Amino acid sequence: MSNALKEYLNFCQNRVENALEDRLPGEQLLPQKLHQAMRYSVLNGGKRMRPMLTYCTGKTLGIAPELLDGPACAVEFIHVYSLIHDDLPAMDDDDLRRGKATCHVAFDEATAILAGDALQALAFETLAHDPSIETTAENRLKMIIALAKASGSQGMVGGQAIDLQSVGTKLNLPELENMHIHKTGALIRASVNMATLVKAGLDPVAAIKLDHYAKCIGLSFQVKDDILDEESDTATLGKTQGKDKNNDKPTYPALLGLSGAKQKAQELHEKALDSLSIFGKEADLLRDLSLYIIQRTH
Ligand code: IPE
Ligand code: IPE
Ligand code: MG
Ligand code: MG
Ligand code: MG
Repeated sequence: MSNALKEYLNFCQNRVENALEDRLPGEQLLPQKLHQAMRYSVLNGGKRMRPMLTYCTGKTLGIAPELLDGPACAVEFIHVYSLIHDDLPAMDDDDLRRGKATCHVAFDEATAILAGDALQALAFETLAHDPSIETTAENRLKMIIALAKASGSQGMVGGQAIDLQSVGTKLNLPELENMHIHKTGALIRASVNMATLVKAGLDPVAAIKLDHYAKCIGLSFQVKDDILDEESDTATLGKTQGKDKNNDKPTYPALLGLSGAKQKAQELHEKALDSLSIFGKEADLLRDLSLYIIQRTH
């Protein structure tokens, strides 16, 4: 990771941790167990990759980070809700997440379901009226639509449905790609696109190029997640290694082998860089982030 990226990510990480904390209901607020579960799952050391993408897109476009706290938190709330539900016994049945017991293990299944539901609502409440968002009502509405589409049956939830119904079957490459684009790619795309919506008068070509970049890294992110599930270890990942194989999940390494999957991740990184060719140095953080996504160790 370049020093510039490391520095900016550190800055954004601190920023988003505080912003998330500020927007979550306090533990003492009734119903306490539900609010404790929400805070337990959000404030526990995730990489915050989606907020980072929102802030780094903002940096590329000259948008101050304080104007992006709302969308950065909203997409992280949706992401955490998706992780809580993804870990449930009815889905991947995982007991470790971000190095700690999953929400349903630390609390109980009903609380985990409700914590996910409430985080989803909080995401949209944040976009609808967060004071940090200084844009036109029309653009705010576009942000809400972008996140809703990315979250729903034609986005993340749709991808999760395909994932679950594909267990034990052999998907072909376009089917696998379609699943990944939905379950993981859609929210990553929304993380970038919500930042472009804050920029008044943005050249539509720049918006299209950034969207294409986001599509490439959204897919490479899940390809790398599949690779790590196969070749990393539980302590480094903070989640149980080898779950995909155990659950008979269709993954890139299962279909292409580890070296084929790595090749695919590299190709996606190169496509992501191509999409940024109209930008100068101001997009270097996004370039570095794409490389980080395929080189990360957890
Ligand atoms: C894990 O996401 C689930 C996927 C969509 C691949 P992350 O790897 O971003 O998880 P955290 O947020 O850092 O825990
Ligand atoms: C999860 O994919 C995608 C979402 C949560 C939407 P995975 O099931 O591969 O994520 P991990 O590996 O459990 O983090
Ligand atoms: Mg899953
Ligand atoms: Mg999972
Ligand atoms: Mg995985």
